Formats: sequence, structure tokens, C-alpha cells
Amino acid sequence: MTALTLRPAKPADAAGISGVLTALVTAGKRTKSADETFALTHYVEDPERLQCTVAVDADGTVLGFQSLKRATPGNVYGTPIGWGGIIGTHIHPPDAARRGGVGKALWAESLRVAGTAGVPSIEALIGASNLEGIGYYEAMGGFRTYRLEPGGGVGKRFDLAFRHRGG
Ligand SMILES: CC(C)(COP(=O)(O)OP(=O)(O)OC[C@H]1O[C@@H](n2cnc3c(N)ncnc32)[C@H](O)[C@@H]1OP(=O)(O)O)[C@@H](O)C(=O)NCCC(=O)NCCS
Repeated sequence: MTALTLRPAKPADAAGISGVLTALVTAGKRTKSADETFALTHYVEDPERLQCTVAVDADGTVLGFQSLKRATPGNVYGTPIGWGGIIGTHIHPPDAARRGGVGKALWAESLRVAGTAGVPSIEALIGASNLEGIGYYEAMGGFRTYRLEPGGGVGKRFDLAFRHRGG
């Protein structure tokens, strides 16, 4: 992997985040919004964010990002409020950024942020046919399937309290 820097996203990263999302759309791995305004409002400056972390290479190119948000009333994911965290991960395909450990590095940072914020549990909501997404969260350890959405989503829960007890 090239030199990797992880840091909280800044407004200037909206273009790079949009680039990652757009590449995922082109690769047939995403159907939702991917423009810069969406990147800014939904990730970088979302008022419910705990941290949106970008992974950038030595040139400052955004290779991927991970969004960790608070689960507040009415959240579009249907995540239970008491849980605290909702996570989403997007890595630029299909070049060297993919399966090069970027997602794993981002999770270590988000887990640190969640622990600092006192988040008890984190949900990842993944499309049931998204085997790489499911494989990724399972590989991070501790994400357990707890709900299946009628629309085809798989909800996986990571419990920090459980983890801290040594589970
Ligand atoms: C899923 C995704 C986040 C993985 O990111 P990544 O940077 O490639 O992941 P890493 O290289 O850190 O992989 C860590 C581990 O996850 C698992 N994993 C990663 N990609 C996988 C795949 N395609 N199939 C199965 N397991 C996979 C592996 O166990 C991997 O470890 P290994 O390569 O040593 O076997 C990335 O492919 C992606 O952005 N996909 C499109 C968006 C998406 O599906 N996001 C998740 C749902 S929100």
C-alpha cells in the first residue's frame, strides 16, 4: 500500500469523496447520490457526524472514507437510537486502493473515535447482495447480523461494551 494518512474530512475533501462515490457508481457498486454537495452535507458537515475520516495517499488523493454518525431520532437507516453509531465505508475501486488495507485502517480510527465518544454500539447497514461489504465488516471482527430488512438490507451490529468485556 502507498503511504496512507487518515484524518477527519474537511470541506475541501468533498470533491475527493465525490470522486470515490462516483467511481463506485461507475463500477456498478452504488446507485445513490455521489455529487460534491451530497458528499459535503451527508458526510463532511453532517451535524450528526462523530467523524468522517478520509484516507489519503502521499499526493493527497482521497482513496476512501468512513463515516461514523450518531443514531438520532428519525435517522434514515432505522438504527435504534440508544446504539449511538452508524457506520459507512467507501473505498475507491477498482485499482490498488481496493483490498489494500484502507478499509481496515479506517475502521481502527472509527473504533477509536467511537470509544472516545462513548458510543455503545455501531450499526452497518449493507445490501444483502453486497458480499464484499458483508465480508469486510465480518473481517473487522465483532460485527454480528441482527436484522434483515424487507428491502434486502443486512444490519450488522458491533457492540463496544461487549468488546470491552473481552468478547
Ligand atoms: C468493502 C470495502 C469497504 C472494503 O474495503 P478495502 O479497503 O478493500 O478492505 P481491506 O483491504 O481493508 O480488507 C480488509 C478485509 O475485509 C475483507 N474483504 C475486503 N474486500 C473483500 C471482498 N471483496 N470479499 C470478501 N472479503 C473482503 C477481507 O477479509 C479483507 O482482509 P484480507 O484482504 O486480508 O483478506 C470496499 O470494497 C468498498 O468500498 N466497497 C464498496 C462500498 C461498500 O460495499 N461498502 C460497505 C457497505 S457500507
